[in-house]
Amino acid sequence: MQHPKTAPYPLGEVNLKGTNVCKRTLTNKKVLLTGASSGIGWYLARELVRAGAYVVATSRRSERLEQLRLSLGNPRQRLIAIPGDIADPLHRERLIDVATGRLGGIDLVINNAGIGAVGQFERATPSRLRRIFEVDFFAVAELTRLSLPMLHQGKNPAVAVVSSVLAHRGVPGKSEYCAAKFALRGWTEALRLELKPAGIDVITVSPSTTKSEFFESLLDTDSSHKNLHFGIQSAESVANSILGAIRKGHRELILSPGGKALVWLSRLAPSLTDRLLLRYAT
Ligand SMILES: NC(=O)c1ccc[n+]([C@@H]2O[C@H](COP(=O)([O-])OP(=O)(O)OC[C@H]3O[C@@H](n4cnc5c(N)ncnc54)[C@H](OP(=O)(O)O)[C@@H]3O)[C@@H](O)[C@H]2O)c1
Repeated sequence: MQHPKTAPYPLGEVNLKGTNVCKRTLTNKKVLLTGASSGIGWYLARELVRAGAYVVATSRRSERLEQLRLSLGNPRQRLIAIPGDIADPLHRERLIDVATGRLGGIDLVINNAGIGAVGQFERATPSRLRRIFEVDFFAVAELTRLSLPMLHQGKNPAVAVVSSVLAHRGVPGKSEYCAAKFALRGWTEALRLELKPAGIDVITVSPSTTKSEFFESLLDTDSSHKNLHFGIQSAESVANSILGAIRKGHRELILSPGGKALVWLSRLAPSLTDRLLLRYAT
């Protein structure tokens, strides 16, 4: 439902009255984006550049980042690709140096990179738990920490975190991933209030199952485990919802009817949710 006269924002950015609600535009924003080589991050990078932002984009696969850069035509060097492992503190420092040196600052950090694993906790190695926390939690918190001095000087600044509906409800077979995303939720809730007086928004978006390379990149998988999907979305539509949330300054967005149903059922009827998950997700 787009407003007939003014519809400069994607569908998800139009409120029920049909008026556009926009707290910030992306034009000329200086953005640090993680996980840009595939899935949601690829579309985030594309749409940011199309919207006129300047982006420092990272992920480990350099050839993918190069493909992304070429596919965009890269008008006025709007995308700078810096390959590396986000779990490496030196790489995180380099990202800040590049954003500071080449963009002149940071207005927006989008913490999107993430990994998971499928299989029972009891059968997994301690390294699986450590690695998932390194990428999904510590890297996000520490990259944000390093960005804060720049964000304080940024224009309409924000930190966005790509979380998951599994930050709201633990499910069997994904204990480490749920734990890391739950940790992110607690951290973002606290950070949001800490940064409020400085005018820095903290925006969390929780997708449910999304078509991407996520399930091909799992650290570990157990083929006997039933993967329950709570409504499958395309990576492109998730990316557009994330950018909509950033533009509007939403505090938290849970995506897809299935994702919302899981979160609300779990809050209102946790025992029933346990029984349903035991039946359909183990
Ligand atoms: N797909 C889903 O069903 C789903 C559901 C809810 C939430 N999410 C969340 O959405 C986010 C994006 O995932 P996606 O679905 O788009 O999956 P994806 O296609 O696998 O993309 C993940 C991105 O993260 C990057 N990445 C992973 N580990 C990294 C590391 N150590 N250092 C740097 N970059 C790293 C990957 O790039 P390289 O491999 O090149 O490093 C890739 O660009 C994740 O935070 C995920 O938890 C996904």
